[in-house]
Amino acid sequence: MYKYLHIYESPKLSGSVTISGAKNAALPLIASTILSDNDVEMTNVPNVADVKTLLKLLSNLGARYEFDNNKLKINTSSINNTTAVYEIVKTMRASILVLGPLLARFGECKVSLPGGCAIGARPVDLHLKALETMGADIKIQGGYIHAKGKLKGADIVFDKITVTGTENIVMAAALAEGETKIINAAKEPEVVQLCEVLKSAGVEIKGIGSDELIIKGTSKELLKFPPFSIIPDRIEAGTYLCAGAITNSKITIKNAEPEHMESILLKLKTMGFSFEIKEKEITILPAKKITPVNISTTEYPGFPTDMQAQFMAIATQAQGVSTLEERLFENRFMHVPELNRLGANIKIQGKIATVYGPTKLYGADVMATDLRASSALVLAGLIAKGETKVHRIYHLFRGYENLLDKFKSLGAKMELKEEPLP
Ligand code: UD1
Repeated sequence: MYKYLHIYESPKLSGSVTISGAKNAALPLIASTILSDNDVEMTNVPNVADVKTLLKLLSNLGARYEFDNNKLKINTSSINNTTAVYEIVKTMRASILVLGPLLARFGECKVSLPGGCAIGARPVDLHLKALETMGADIKIQGGYIHAKGKLKGADIVFDKITVTGTENIVMAAALAEGETKIINAAKEPEVVQLCEVLKSAGVEIKGIGSDELIIKGTSKELLKFPPFSIIPDRIEAGTYLCAGAITNSKITIKNAEPEHMESILLKLKTMGFSFEIKEKEITILPAKKITPVNISTTEYPGFPTDMQAQFMAIATQAQGVSTLEERLFENRFMHVPELNRLGANIKIQGKIATVYGPTKLYGADVMATDLRASSALVLAGLIAKGETKVHRIYHLFRGYENLLDKFKSLGAKMELKEEPLP
C-alpha cells in the first residue's frame, strides 16, 4: 500500500495556522550536540521525517534521546561508533552535517557520500576542501568519506555560498585549535541560530549574520548547551501564505518570524497582496488582481529557492506572464510538467521558467518529486477544479509538520488515502 494526498477543490480558505520550528535550523543544531557530552534540551523541534532520520542516525552512532511533544532531550556522551551509514545518509543529504562535528570531537569518522538527489548533483566538495584546509586527511573509499586528523583553525574562502557547508565548518571550527575565518559564509537565519547557540555553549564567534565568520575553537574542550528553542520555519510560513495567495483568501500565520521573510513578503506584495503584521503573526489579505512576478532565486536575504515552486503555482493565476529563474539548483523545475498536467502553461528555457497566466486548473493525478515541489502541487490542487491526487506524498512529510491538520484548519478539503501498489 502507498499513501497519496487526495485534494478536493477548496477555492477559499480562512482562519489561522501555527508555524512549526524550522527543519533547516533543527538539523544542524541536532548535529551540533555531538560537540557536547552533556544533556542538550531544545524545544519547538518540528516532528518531521528529516528530523527523525537524523535522530536515527545519531542513535545508530550510540547517542540517546527522548523526543516528545516537539521537545528533544539528547545526550551524545555514549557515542561509540563514528560511521554514518549509507542506508540512512542516502535518505537525507543533510546527514552530511554530522561530518564536521564527528571529526572535530573524535579525530576520525566515516560518513557515506550523500550521492545524487532529485534536484541536482549537489556535491559536498566545498565541505571537504574546507576540512582539508583545517588539516583533515580525507579519502573517498567505497562510497564513504574517510576523514581523519586533528583540526586546526584556518582561513577558508567558500567559492560558492553553501548553507550546510558553512554549518559543517562552523561546527568543526568550534572544537578546533585556534581561529577559523570563513569568508563568503552563508547568512541564512538557520546559520545565524546555529552560531548563536554555539556561542551560548561556549564558543567565541564573531561576525554572526555577516558573510565573514571568525570562530575561536575550544581546542577540544566540549561544549555546554543551555536549553534553546528552534526558530520558526520561514519556508513553512511562506508556503501557508502562498496557500492564502493562490486562493486569494485572508488567512493568518502564527508563531512566524516576519523579519526572516522579507523577500517572500515583498514578492507577494508585488503580486498585489497586502499584509497585517503583528510581532509573530502575519495576515495575508486578498489581491484585487493577481499581478505577474519576476523572481530569481538566490542566497539569503534574497528570494529562497525553497519557495520557487510555491510561487510558480500562484503565478499560474496571475494576469499575465511571470518568470522564475532558478539560480541555485540545476534540476529544480520538476514540478513544471506536473503543474502543466493540471492545466498550467509553463515553459522552461535553461534556468528560466515562464508562466503564462491566468490559466484554469483542473484536478488530475500528479507526482511529487521533492519536498518543495510537492507543496506547489498541493497549492495548485486547492484551486484545481474537481479532485487532485498527489502521489509520492512522503516527500512532503520530510519537511511539513502536521500538514494535513494545518490545511484542514484553514478550511481546505483533503485526505490522506492509501492505494495498493500497482
Ligand atoms: C540548504 C538547505 C536547502 C536549501 C539550500 C539552498 C538545509 C538542510 N538545506 O541545502 O533546503 O534549498 O540550502 O538555500 O539547510 N554546492 C557545491 N559544493 C558543495 C556544496 C554546495 O557546489 O560542497 C552548491 C550546490 O550544488 C548548490 C549551491 O552550492 O548549487 C548551494 O547549495 P547549499 O547551500 O550547499 O545547499 P544545502 O546546504 O545542501
